[in-house]
Amino acid sequence: MASKLLNHLRALYTTNNHSPSHRLSNPKLIFHLPRSFLSVSQSLLHARPYSDAPEPIPTGPPLPEKPPTNGGTTSYKKNVSRASNFSSSLNEAELSKFSAIAETWWDAEGPFKPLHLMNPTRLAFIRSTLCRHFRKDPHCARPFEGLRIVDVGCGGGILSEPLARMGAIVMGIDAVEKNIKIARLHADLDPVTSAIEYHCTTAEKLVEEQREFDAVIALEVIEHVADPAEFCKSLAALTVTSGATVISTINRSVRSYATAIIAAEYLLHWLPKGTHQWSSFLIPEELVLILQRASVTVQEMAGFEYNPLTGRWTLSDNVSVNFIAFGTKNHQ
Ligand SMILES: C[S@@+](CC[C@H](N)C(=O)[O-])C[C@H]1O[C@@H](n2cnc3c(N)ncnc32)[C@H](O)[C@@H]1O
Repeated sequence: MASKLLNHLRALYTTNNHSPSHRLSNPKLIFHLPRSFLSVSQSLLHARPYSDAPEPIPTGPPLPEKPPTNGGTTSYKKNVSRASNFSSSLNEAELSKFSAIAETWWDAEGPFKPLHLMNPTRLAFIRSTLCRHFRKDPHCARPFEGLRIVDVGCGGGILSEPLARMGAIVMGIDAVEKNIKIARLHADLDPVTSAIEYHCTTAEKLVEEQREFDAVIALEVIEHVADPAEFCKSLAALTVTSGATVISTINRSVRSYATAIIAAEYLLHWLPKGTHQWSSFLIPEELVLILQRASVTVQEMAGFEYNPLTGRWTLSDNVSVNFIAFGTKNHQ
């Protein structure tokens, strides 16, 4: 399945290689997904458990005009009231694993070492895609100036902080109280990051509060939630129309079993044993499809590859293990 997908994605890359939208510092590394990808996804997904009922997201009256994005509060608030029909994303067994290691978030040699090492690479993808989408200059010091971003499942804030340094108005949320405490303490060490708003809450609770953001980011979270399709619906509901949703996760492939579980947890001891459940991983087509059903169209996707010789992660066209997707919220 993984090699089939890879060949398909390679074919997509070849046909899109001359797209005028390839204006990245390293454009080779990001796929632009054409419509045909979705029909392939639909057929591959036939027997998957993520075939959620085609329940429409409730739509209210037209949204109010956006308030200005320089300064002010972290999120927009809709002036429509709507009852929440988003089920809880909480998986208590997963959350207790994170609670047990919350103090180690900022230990670059601790259990979150792989995320620390991946951070510059995933930020490169986020910077490129968001700057292109929101027409910002990726080369300036604060390219996200004024953008309202929520970092869902922020952990200790290792992504929220650089987003704030890039000028974004950041809200970081996590279901584990200890994570939020650590994130708050660390962010307060620097005046720039002390502006981050941290809350112990969930995406679905923010939906209930009718919050909306220009960009909704959930990195390495979807594999830990109770229901990925419901979680994506909440992320989509938090994204303004035409806004951006970014998700990274791990592919359910033979290679990910060998590397992300056997090697990372049992041989290299990078992560505590049992951190990941292979069956909770999503293949890229599944992610594309559940996002599409939630009204988010995936526009770009890239893989992350680890080089054991340099100890560095790079963006790649290989989505067989770690991958990241950038989508935009459709007009309803
Ligand atoms: C692997 S960590 C990723 C942290 C951060 N996104 C990053 O990549 O640096 C997963 C995080 O998601 C949080 N989490 C898991 N399920 C959640 C949920 N349903 N709602 C909010 N946070 C959740 C966990 O507490 C944990 O901090």
